[in-house]
Amino acid sequence: MARKRILLTGASSGIGRACCELLAADGDEVVGLDIQTAPPQAAQHVQCDLSEPDSIDAALRQIDGRFDALLNVAGVPGTVDPALIMRVNILGLKHLTEAVIDRLNPGGAIVSVASIAGFNWQRRLAQLTQFLAQPDFAAGLRWFEQHPLDANGAYHFSKEAVVVYTMQLAGPARSRGLRCNSVSPGPVDTPLLPAFKIQAGAGQLDWVIEQTGGASTPMDIAHVLRFLATGPSDCINGRDLAVDRGLTAGLVIGWIDKNDSPLLNSRKTQAP
Ligand code: NAI
Repeated sequence: MARKRILLTGASSGIGRACCELLAADGDEVVGLDIQTAPPQAAQHVQCDLSEPDSIDAALRQIDGRFDALLNVAGVPGTVDPALIMRVNILGLKHLTEAVIDRLNPGGAIVSVASIAGFNWQRRLAQLTQFLAQPDFAAGLRWFEQHPLDANGAYHFSKEAVVVYTMQLAGPARSRGLRCNSVSPGPVDTPLLPAFKIQAGAGQLDWVIEQTGGASTPMDIAHVLRFLATGPSDCINGRDLAVDRGLTAGLVIGWIDKNDSPLLNSRKTQAP
């Protein structure tokens, strides 16, 4: 198989680092972008702050040539400043994607990491569409300032926005011979997991992990991202793929009883 060239954000840690390892082992050339230092397997790495559009643009100027895939993996949890969550998880992702799309080779793919936290995007599609219609990073940030959310709310909104943005981009991507998909992991054993436990509160994430037989490993998620980025996935476009060990299926169909969840129970005991 021909060696592919992949631009990968979040390459320094967790899921992104596992992707870098896996793709490099395939013989692919990985160009990493991260605020932290390079992972060992990256062919090139540029330290860059994805919360700042100027930093993204400066990083791209340091990287020559074209790519076969863009993997948007970097993210921050819902325990930090809400504006930072929006900046990194969606506004920076969108800015980078739009800056790089002309440098993606036909037959290539854009794959972004969303989350099961983005599962309920349909409930506020109109608001998400309005947010995503903002013409640039600064306008998106202004929109968020006018529609503020707390950190947990901003995390959910940012991941719902990744799912909807992916579906929006699938049309224009297709006309360029590209595909655009997202992956929504459940809990993954990375350095972010403790923050997600705090974010979910009330023992909720431990309950989720127990219901689904454990947390996924970064490599579990990396295999799925690789399949969508460089694997035989030509007919998959505009989809969000939950990689959650059955969690969302169980909650929707009922073989996981949400009434047992610590979060619902704590709400019941708090209700007046
Ligand atoms: P991680 O913390 O190991 O990796 C995140 C990477 O993003 C780090 O290398 C970090 O330096 C980079 N990053 C953060 N802010 C940045 C910035 N301003 N500029 C450039 N790079 C920045 O965490 P993990 O778990 O591997 O997260 C990867 C993605 O997976 C994130 O988008 C996260 O929201 C998502 N996710 C993680 C889950 C989990 O349970 N770990 C569950 C669902 C989604």
